[in-house]
Amino acid sequence: MIVYPTQENYQEAIHKLQKGELIGLPTETVYGLAGDATSDLAIARIFEAKKRPTFNPLIIHGSSQETFKDHVVWNDIAEILSRAFWPGPLTLVLPRVPTSRISLLASAGLESLAIRVPHHPVALDLLTKFKGLLAAPSANPSGRISSTQAIHVQEDFSELFILDGGNTTIGLESTIIDLTTAIPLLLRHGGLPVEEIESLIGSLEAPCKSPIKAPGMLKSHYAPSLPLRLNVKQPLENEAYLAFGHTTFKGDHILNLSPSGHLTEAAANLFKMMRLLDNTQFCGISVAPIPLKGLGMALNDRLLRAAAPREL
Ligand code: TXA
Ligand code: MG
Repeated sequence: MIVYPTQENYQEAIHKLQKGELIGLPTETVYGLAGDATSDLAIARIFEAKKRPTFNPLIIHGSSQETFKDHVVWNDIAEILSRAFWPGPLTLVLPRVPTSRISLLASAGLESLAIRVPHHPVALDLLTKFKGLLAAPSANPSGRISSTQAIHVQEDFSELFILDGGNTTIGLESTIIDLTTAIPLLLRHGGLPVEEIESLIGSLEAPCKSPIKAPGMLKSHYAPSLPLRLNVKQPLENEAYLAFGHTTFKGDHILNLSPSGHLTEAAANLFKMMRLLDNTQFCGISVAPIPLKGLGMALNDRLLRAAAPREL
């Protein structure tokens, strides 16, 4: 059920969360499938609903930096980054305080926790009213396309109580930085361009240079049902086409991520347009080249995983 964020519906959402039930929650990146981070029952339900491997930990969402103080060991870089970018599309991985009440299942038994403060009025209102922390992975079955509208969440989880927060503005998941290592490590490209982070704290260790990875970074992810081809300038017959920038192709099978060639607009449109073109009337989806800079890094990362041979 999709509902507007009225006072009554916030109360209903909180009531459900207190019972260990799940809700659909808008954030600025993608919609989340949210449950009380301290409830093992709620966390088990998240893994079950998403069919997510239990070795893949969840991001914990709070309304401010202070809400995490009993749960993670803070450091100077976390201070700089959270001051600069929270609320916003940045997740920080920090050592877990042993006495934290966050479900061990949520962090998949790791000695670290991934935390973020989302930049969305509905998410912040709910977190403030709930007076607690919410574990929220993206609201999509494991390995499939993320949700950027309430209707996408309903398509994937028909029984869920979903707070409608409109279209997500960023459209790609948060950037994840591991701060448990000597040099901050980029675990996932995302809605906050790496250049902005590096301008404050210097170079990040790249994920491929380190054996440590976000356990959820499976090669095949964000996958539509149809096969996907990347860096295509000329789509095949019967193939749907996701263009970027100026294009001469026209028709129902063509969508343009950003006719003006803007990466922010393309990021906001990516998952919605992949869902729209994922239709069996086509034999596949091909995608135009996207520049490898700024948000283009995260866009290319999502596309590469969506095009990878399916593992799930
Ligand atoms: O924008 C987002 O981050 C969205 C919205 C809903 O907040 N959430 C999201 O969650 O993308 P999910 O579950 O789809 O991705 C979480 C990622 C996974 O790759 C997981 O492995 C990683 O975060 N992660 C979680 N806890 C971690 C930890 N302690 N150490 C390393 N990686 C962790
Ligand atoms: Mg996800």
